[in-house]
Amino acid sequence: MDLSELLSLVSNQFLDIFVKINLTMDTYKIILEAHSGIAYVALITLAIAVINSLIGISAKNEFKPKDRRIALFALIATHIQFVFGLILYFVSPNGMAALKSGMKTVMGNAALRKLAVEHPLTNIVAIALITIGWSLHKKADESKKFRKIAIFYSIGLLLLLLMIPWGTWIG
Ligand code: HEM
Repeated sequence: MDLSELLSLVSNQFLDIFVKINLTMDTYKIILEAHSGIAYVALITLAIAVINSLIGISAKNEFKPKDRRIALFALIATHIQFVFGLILYFVSPNGMAALKSGMKTVMGNAALRKLAVEHPLTNIVAIALITIGWSLHKKADESKKFRKIAIFYSIGLLLLLLMIPWGTWIG
């Protein structure tokens, strides 16, 4: 192999790496934008479902198909957000990649700890609670359906709100 062949091989390798990094960055930006946008839909629909169920309990309303749709819409938005969150965890420098710098470094940095550990773990628990609430409401008697949604969705929503990285999202 002469020098020009070697140079072209090296430059091709660099080009390959550059293209890969760019693709990864684009994927990261697209998923982050989606996760950031769907967060509004998930939080607002959950809040509506909680308020609707509290009104239902206090007014002793009958649980109608409209109430089921409100709770279902919040569940779907939350699950879509979960899928984007999971993908984001693997493409973000603040997710799985951050753990490579060592658990001690991540846990010692409040901002990084929130994004790489607390936000994902707590939100998975919150989404699981919301899903449990949805399936319990299906099995519950007519008079207890609003109660199941109110309890599980409100705890889930509270956990999500506690773990939002407000500074990077809205700030
Ligand atoms: C309903 C549940 C969730 C909500 C409402 C939510 C909301 C958010 C918001 C608002 C941000 C900030 C976005 C920005 O800076 O523009 C964020 C970041 C992030 N979320 Fe979630 N999230 C949820 C679930 C999850 C889950 C389940 C995971 C992972 C398993 C996850 C992983 C991440 C990661 C890694 C970041 C940091 C991205 C970065 O700054 O590079 N999220 N999330």
